[in-house]
Amino acid sequence: MCGIVGYIGTRDAYPILINGLKRLEYRGYDSAGVALVTENGEINLYKCKGKVKNLEEFVSNSDLSGHVGIAHTRWATHGEPNDVNAHPHYSHSGSIAIIHNGIIENYAVLKEALMENGYEFKSDTDTEVLVNLIEYVRMTNNCSLLEAVQGALKQVIGAYAIAVVEKGNPKEIIAARQSSPLVVGIGKGEFFLASDASPLVEYTDKVVYIKNGEIALLNIDSPLKVVDFDNVESKVNVKKLEMSISQLEKGGYPHFMLKEINEQPKTITDCIRGRISPDSFEVKLSGIIDHADKFLNARRIVFVACGTSWHASLIGKRMIEEYCQIPVVVEYASEFRYSNPVICDKDIVIAVSQSGETADTLAAIELAKSKGAFVFGICNVIGSSIARETDSGVYLHVGPEIGVASTKAFTGQVTVMAMIALTVAKEKGTISEEKAVTIARDLYRLPKVLEKVLTLNNQIADFVKRFTYAKNFIYLGRGYNYPTALEGALKLKEISYIHAEGYPAAEMKHGPIALIDQDMPTVAIAVTDHVYEKVVSNIQEVKSRGGVVIAIVAEKDEIVSKMADFCIKVPSLSECLMPIVVAVPLQLFAYHIAVCKGLDVDQPRNLAKSVTVE
Ligand code: M6R
Repeated sequence: MCGIVGYIGTRDAYPILINGLKRLEYRGYDSAGVALVTENGEINLYKCKGKVKNLEEFVSNSDLSGHVGIAHTRWATHGEPNDVNAHPHYSHSGSIAIIHNGIIENYAVLKEALMENGYEFKSDTDTEVLVNLIEYVRMTNNCSLLEAVQGALKQVIGAYAIAVVEKGNPKEIIAARQSSPLVVGIGKGEFFLASDASPLVEYTDKVVYIKNGEIALLNIDSPLKVVDFDNVESKVNVKKLEMSISQLEKGGYPHFMLKEINEQPKTITDCIRGRISPDSFEVKLSGIIDHADKFLNARRIVFVACGTSWHASLIGKRMIEEYCQIPVVVEYASEFRYSNPVICDKDIVIAVSQSGETADTLAAIELAKSKGAFVFGICNVIGSSIARETDSGVYLHVGPEIGVASTKAFTGQVTVMAMIALTVAKEKGTISEEKAVTIARDLYRLPKVLEKVLTLNNQIADFVKRFTYAKNFIYLGRGYNYPTALEGALKLKEISYIHAEGYPAAEMKHGPIALIDQDMPTVAIAVTDHVYEKVVSNIQEVKSRGGVVIAIVAEKDEIVSKMADFCIKVPSLSECLMPIVVAVPLQLFAYHIAVCKGLDVDQPRNLAKSVTVE
């Protein structure tokens, strides 16, 4: 987590850095800071606790001149979120300033060694250790800043994307990465750097994704140079950035989350575009077709993911088992990476991640590869680390997701999983033509269906007002909608800070039913599917214990509508696609409760969008 941004060129650096930080604030918002190198090589460094707007107020009367600078927005790992621990950090002598996204795992040993050499530390951060190590290498070897960065990074264990500037050197920024994202933008006589491409989009469409173990030299007088820690130069691979500014703005909505919920008819259209034939309803994913032999001969599929992506994977499991007849397991990437999984070259590991940067998922990929598995990625962010590390994959194409609570990425992931299941099942001959066409036709209808579901917004905004009192919620679902219940509960937890548990509806009587009373509302998903009658009984069990039930039901429902206290009616589609339809009112439900409680929907406390640390 944490967002880093840098600029070197002929424009004033400060406004570019501040705008960049605002774009990256989704990555962390505990503190923010900026270091500006003035014309005569002095460094002015400002930082403070809180969000980027606090930093703007803090620096309002300061010298903000300079055409070179680095800036940081923090999600705290080492050291509490306060002014001192905020980045940038100066080296001991004040000659070098650094920003860092990641974790230096061996910081304690390095710190001790530096202290023995007379170094003193102001902050509790691992980052201050790194900048002092760079200074120490530079001074003891009397070498260049680049050589010092190379020498220091050879001693470091951990994950980082860093950028350093030096006093007396107003022409250069040195940036490096290992397991944390770093992208460089190339303009006319200027360079930009950032954790992702969003801060660069209004200035350039030429970007270079820096790889693990690479160092980028941003020098105002030279073209971009990329070297490794041994100074071996790599080819600079310039890519065209496919992103627009409007995708990064709220577009009239009060929050990114609400914008992203409302975008879903369009994002699903973008997700299926060119992948489903509008005439024959044939589904084709080239990432699968190109490796059809792997899928046809797969012994097993293992999904690795975190959070919302893990929930989507549970739905993918059901689809692939039902239609492709391949055994599937779903693992938390964070658990998988530290297990000793029985994986071989006949297994396919599917890594699912919106950001494509989640550290645990990346580590799970590495482990799967070391065991010989074919690794397939389902990512949203184009060019992200996971997209690059996998053998093949499919992009969601739902556009940048900025709200910390994942919404359109979830529905995109489930859509992609349905397309994967249909493509593989067709290749394997494990699905009937009729069934395949019905599901594909329903995928095609999804955008229109979601437009209808979104008209429920006002109804939901109105009735949630009665539930802001609740301290606990239980979400129940079965079959394809058990993972949807988990996802609904996660949405509520992360943005409204109300404790919520998702449960398979029938499991409730094995324990959680003891919690049911008039103060703990139940959200029950009871759409028309093969477990509908079973869910009806489960709802009955809640009602007979005095529980309040909010039910999501099919438009034609007659049974649950009479039992539930509140009903949200949604259109029906193929059973495996109902999680997409049901997710939308659950997203709106969580959103409106959080708004009623006056909470910061897009940047909930303690969270960051992209979890690039363990
Ligand atoms: O970028 P990823 O999909 O890998 O992120 C995984 C989780 O961190 C993410 O889904 C998280 O749970 C969201 N905040 C949920 O809304």
